[in-house]
Amino acid sequence: MNLEQKVRDAFKSRFAGQPAMIVRAPGRVNLIGEHTDYNDGFVMPMAIDRSVWIALRPAQGRRVTVHSLDFDKRDSFALEGLQKNQSKWLEYLKGVAWVLQEAGYTLAGWEGVLTSDVPIGAGLSSSAALELATARAFQAVSGFDWEPKKMALLGQRAENKWVGVNCGIMDQLISAAGKAGHALLIDCRSLDCQPAPLPAGVAVVILDTATRRGLDSSAYNERRLQCETVAKFFGVKALRDVDVATFEARQGELEDVFRRRARHVITEDDRTLKAAEALRRGDIGALGRLLDASHASLRDDYEVSCQELNAMVDCARDAAGCLGARMTGAGFGGCAVALVEEARAEVFAQSVTANYEKAVNLKPHIYVCQAAEGAEARPA
Ligand code: GLA
Repeated sequence: MNLEQKVRDAFKSRFAGQPAMIVRAPGRVNLIGEHTDYNDGFVMPMAIDRSVWIALRPAQGRRVTVHSLDFDKRDSFALEGLQKNQSKWLEYLKGVAWVLQEAGYTLAGWEGVLTSDVPIGAGLSSSAALELATARAFQAVSGFDWEPKKMALLGQRAENKWVGVNCGIMDQLISAAGKAGHALLIDCRSLDCQPAPLPAGVAVVILDTATRRGLDSSAYNERRLQCETVAKFFGVKALRDVDVATFEARQGELEDVFRRRARHVITEDDRTLKAAEALRRGDIGALGRLLDASHASLRDDYEVSCQELNAMVDCARDAAGCLGARMTGAGFGGCAVALVEEARAEVFAQSVTANYEKAVNLKPHIYVCQAAEGAEARPA
């Protein structure tokens, strides 16, 4: 059963009545441009055909009541006097309610049933999908306009200020503004989004290592601080403002670890722009090589990969039909992504599954994904 049907049916049995609307917000896979968003740089993610779904109807009083099918738990909160507490999944919804109200939106209460097929902690942005689905739910019952960029910024603010993870804008923006059949080249300073059509005959394959990154954001925050330190050294607002030539001319003045962190970000911005050009020209070979180079840079210079991600990327590259592969998302576990000749995708998946299992003794989860549309709401 698809998830839309699942939340619709569950709503009827849990809330004794029909839902008024269905909202959906997708997870994402980032094709290239990793750890560049918080440096005001460039990213090229696509929204995927895995989403958070909510079936809901407006409720009496200013209260939100949600039944999570995945946690088999019902919880609720009042829109007045919001307080943080420990209940994990509900905090994302409360955080979104808090930022929307802080931004001046008048919110109505609702009751709903929620489920998701975006794996948690896998680097596919399950939290951004939950934030944007929540924003969509509030928009649908409260009747304000849906402005994807504004909602993405508020979702990011909820993550930064309520959940306490200091993430950039990529995940929320692609979940809000994704375009079916396309990746988006996003300028994370201006938030300009350029749709880049995915080439015919090429499959985007998600390679889940079956390892999960802990929610410890200290390594992530440490990378951010290192980047900010180097930006100060160059006298610019963010590393986005340093080009490869300027970096090379002065890199000898930097301490080794700072030099490597900055080299990753600066060359990754360059690779991302080149990847968008390669897509425009239909040069898939060049695109694949840029993905490979991105992985090496994340592994050696930025040091956010791990043994399982490296093993997965190696297995992918050894398999027939692979055009390029890299870890995707924040790193430290989760998923890699590969571009694969479509006609060989099935055999590719079988061979990578067998070889990865042999290499690390974990069962991976490998699937071809489609580029989906961003968050939407429709009458049930
Ligand atoms: C996480 C963050 C994003 C981005 C990536 C790394 O997904 O939420 O903002 O920084 O890591 O590219």
